[in-house]
Amino acid sequence: MDIEFAELVKKGLSAKNKYLSSLYFYDDYGSQLFQMITKLPEYYLTKCEYEIFETQKDKILKSFLGTDDNFNLIELGSGDGHKTKVLLNYIIEKEVDFVYKPNDISIEALDSLDKILKEEFKLIKIEKLVGNYHKVLDQIEFSKEKNIVLFLGSNIGNFNYQKSINFFKFISSKLKKEDLFLVGFDLKKDPKIISNAYNDSQGITEAFNLNILTRINNEFGADFDINNFSFYSYYNPETMEYKSYIISNKKQNVNISKLEFEVDFEYGESIFTELSQKFDLERINDMASKSGLKIKDQFYDCRSYFVDILFEKI
Ligand code: AVI
Repeated sequence: MDIEFAELVKKGLSAKNKYLSSLYFYDDYGSQLFQMITKLPEYYLTKCEYEIFETQKDKILKSFLGTDDNFNLIELGSGDGHKTKVLLNYIIEKEVDFVYKPNDISIEALDSLDKILKEEFKLIKIEKLVGNYHKVLDQIEFSKEKNIVLFLGSNIGNFNYQKSINFFKFISSKLKKEDLFLVGFDLKKDPKIISNAYNDSQGITEAFNLNILTRINNEFGADFDINNFSFYSYYNPETMEYKSYIISNKKQNVNISKLEFEVDFEYGESIFTELSQKFDLERINDMASKSGLKIKDQFYDCRSYFVDILFEKI
């Protein structure tokens, strides 16, 4: 049993304002649903970052290299690596000596990425890192070669302010002077564009959220009837927070047998599931300065919907 997940379920579902965490969206099925989201026409984030890599790969690689001629590329939460492949392909084409170290919690996602990279890209220097970021980064020997850590797709938006600062501080504590940290940020924009990205017409985002209840059913013997719950989300342009919830469609009781725990839901009651924070430069600079990092380079897509920022140590 995943003890941390069990603790969260008990704590989050007994709180006055119920909550769970999107960290637990990603079992193998959840990861598959997320890959489907990235291909939805409404979900612009992945497409923007793909465009950035496609159009600015030369500048990005020059920035990566500086005066060095090799590096380790550590990608946190690589998933199927769709957009990173553009960059990887280019680095291979330029015959730069590098080791790609993709990290994900889904073994399935990592295995399929490894297979594609070996077969299609003839990339052999791959080191799969299975597990959560902290565990994996603690295992890496940062003192030797040049390391470039990638945290793409605005994954940072799924952390609240304090957690994102702590995460930046943690990365910063690992980096040496010549190491780099590339982070993708979804930027502040017309709220309607943001809302559409999370309210897709095919209901994949809803399924992605509800999958956490299925996980609780499967892993902890709960009897959530998924048909009695739905998805609601909204954007607050003042705080740049996009928040997602699961809503109980009726008064109901759920039994979570393996946790010996019961939970009551009122009609219309919510479970907060995910924060997708949006950013502006002021906020990004604030996060960097609080964690001993500074901006080395910035790469925007043509609509300035999204930015990839390369940080280095102060
Ligand atoms: C992974 N993460 C940046 C996505 C986001 O936009 O917050 C997860 C997601 N949630 C709903 N759609 C996509």
